[in-house]
Amino acid sequence: MLGRRIGARMVLGWAVFFAVPVVVRADGDGPHRSPVALALSVDGKRLLTANQTADSVSLVDTASGRVLDEVKTGEKPAGVAIASDGRRAVVAHWYGYDLAVIEVGGDKLKVVGRVEVGPEPRGVAISWDGATAYVAVGVENEVVRVDLDGRKVTGRIGVGREPRGVALSPDGSKLVVGNARSGDVSIVDLKKWVVEQTISIDGTNLRQVIVAPDGKTAYVANMKNRRFATTKNNIDLGWVLGQRLTRVALDGSSPTFSTISLDPRGQAASDAHGVGVSRDGRLIVVSLGGTHELMVFRTDRKRLPWRDENSRDLMASELLTGDGRFRRVALGGRPTEIVFAPDAKTVYVANYLEDAVQVVDASAAKLVRTIPLGGPKTPSLARRGERVFHDATRSFNQWYSCNTCHSDGHTAGLDFDTLNDGRQDLSTFHLKSRKKAPTLRGVTQTGPWTWHGWQKNLDHAMVESFTKSMQGPRPSEEDVRALVAYLGTLEYPRNPYRNPDGSLTPAARRGQDIFRSSKAGCATCHKGPELTDGKIHIAGLEEPDDAYEGYNPPSLRGLYDKDPYLHDGRSKTLREALSGPHSPETVVSGSGELSSQEMDDLIAYLKSL
Ligand code: HEC
Ligand code: HEC
Repeated sequence: MLGRRIGARMVLGWAVFFAVPVVVRADGDGPHRSPVALALSVDGKRLLTANQTADSVSLVDTASGRVLDEVKTGEKPAGVAIASDGRRAVVAHWYGYDLAVIEVGGDKLKVVGRVEVGPEPRGVAISWDGATAYVAVGVENEVVRVDLDGRKVTGRIGVGREPRGVALSPDGSKLVVGNARSGDVSIVDLKKWVVEQTISIDGTNLRQVIVAPDGKTAYVANMKNRRFATTKNNIDLGWVLGQRLTRVALDGSSPTFSTISLDPRGQAASDAHGVGVSRDGRLIVVSLGGTHELMVFRTDRKRLPWRDENSRDLMASELLTGDGRFRRVALGGRPTEIVFAPDAKTVYVANYLEDAVQVVDASAAKLVRTIPLGGPKTPSLARRGERVFHDATRSFNQWYSCNTCHSDGHTAGLDFDTLNDGRQDLSTFHLKSRKKAPTLRGVTQTGPWTWHGWQKNLDHAMVESFTKSMQGPRPSEEDVRALVAYLGTLEYPRNPYRNPDGSLTPAARRGQDIFRSSKAGCATCHKGPELTDGKIHIAGLEEPDDAYEGYNPPSLRGLYDKDPYLHDGRSKTLREALSGPHSPETVVSGSGELSSQEMDDLIAYLKSL
């Protein structure tokens, strides 16, 4: 049933995108555009935006600030790049699993082809000659190389977990890839087509990656999970989590990376996303989605306090003396990717929640212009909820938003001690209270909530999230309604492990029989459309001092992208979970050990859910 539904949607979606590359008007109506990425032509005259909720790309004339054209390209655009001659562009579709090739002819955009690349592609770069694109495919943990003239994939290379941002070196010889979930940067030698180096940066949730104009270093916005419990004191010391700008050496030199911490005590930063360096290297800018701002750093007065191969918990106090090295520019909304203009002072910022591109004079630290891309005048309840979800000013001293831990409404695989399990760990050596932040896809359908399943009411869960996880004020009833409406929009992407028509592969079909058999016994607890019975079970992972007895089986949908597994994320892979802490013998007494063939089939089935 589930399979047929997904299959039908997929086939329909294709038909729509192939047949009608519709032009949508950008005159203040139509859907929210929600730009998340942008690309600027080398001459600085044309700007392209990837509009995530409008399935489109807009072409902006930077001089006049006018939207010249907009075309539908595919499902949830997430990354865009333009060739150096300004005539060809590519856009990667997060939920569409493909890349569209766009011809930029003067004031017009035209989709001229598309290439399937794999599940959840986001960051994309284009070679200087415009012949090749490189796409980060998040679920497959690969960079995919695409020949844009032949419109075909010509190579795949494994990188870290959940590659997201990519950037080319100025000489075109290297590709730098930020792996959001494994917390490292892969440097790919494009000629030899090998990963030349992997640098762990001691941070996760990596977002935009850029290479400095001198080609020697790359920069990436990220965050550090310090993992202490969410008490006000811990939050304010930077011991729960903090935002970072990290600089990575591309030439194999030491230190391999250095970091600037972005959180001033008392008025922190949240959801570092975009990063830019001016052509002359004098200005470095970072956008922060949760605190709705741009941070501007000047490098020409005094050295910036980079910390080598490590990071501070708080912003270095020397940056807070008002000597002009550090300034903050309020932008509102949710600033995401950014790009510097050739003049080395103008910055273009994609602002998702404002449905706009903002133009900032970085040397004066001033917002000078807002270019609207179009969207409804009055936001829906769900869109208001989306704003709340991404708003860090609702947490204690604005340290983080819901989005920080539930990355894009999904999971970043990180664990936190949010006091939600009824207790708190007092040191990092005693870590039993930490829980993996679950995905929020489909969450309105999967009560009761929390891993222990003690929370029976989603509205109450929202209040707890604000007051305990965020240590912020109680939300209004309207905020709660809006948030729940937004959570209701968070859908799973189409399953990439099924046949193209959405049906199960033969291995998955065999696995389904095992799942339902009394030998494995899975379906006694994991049943129904969300594969959970909504009850509390003793499944063998309990601790003697748990405040609540037992656990609630989580939904198994979209399992392939929910790693690491189990409430404390103790199993990196499904196989690890099912042959160790959550094996049939452990969970149900009397059930048998699976043969290796049965285990393979069971995993094939689990990945297809
Ligand atoms: C500091 C990280 C963090 C922040 C911030 C945070 N959460 Fe969570 N969230 C978690 C963790 C960890 C859990 C699991 C807690 C547990 O089960 O004990 C969780 C659980 C949840 C659940 C229950 C999911 C389920 O399937 O049972 C919902 C819903 C939720 N969070 C929504 C939100 C919303 C909305 C916000 C913002 C108001 C928010 N969270 C802020 C980390 C966070
Ligand atoms: C007695 C009820 C029960 C049975 C039987 C059971 N599970 Fe579970 N399952 C749970 C509970 C409870 C959890 C959460 C446990 C935790 O994390 O502490 C869970 C967690 C999981 C997870 C981890 C999900 C995640 O998001 O981390 C997977 C995968 C899973 N079960 C698969 C299976 C499979 C496959 C079988 C059959 C071999 C099975 N389960 C049998 C109750 C059960």
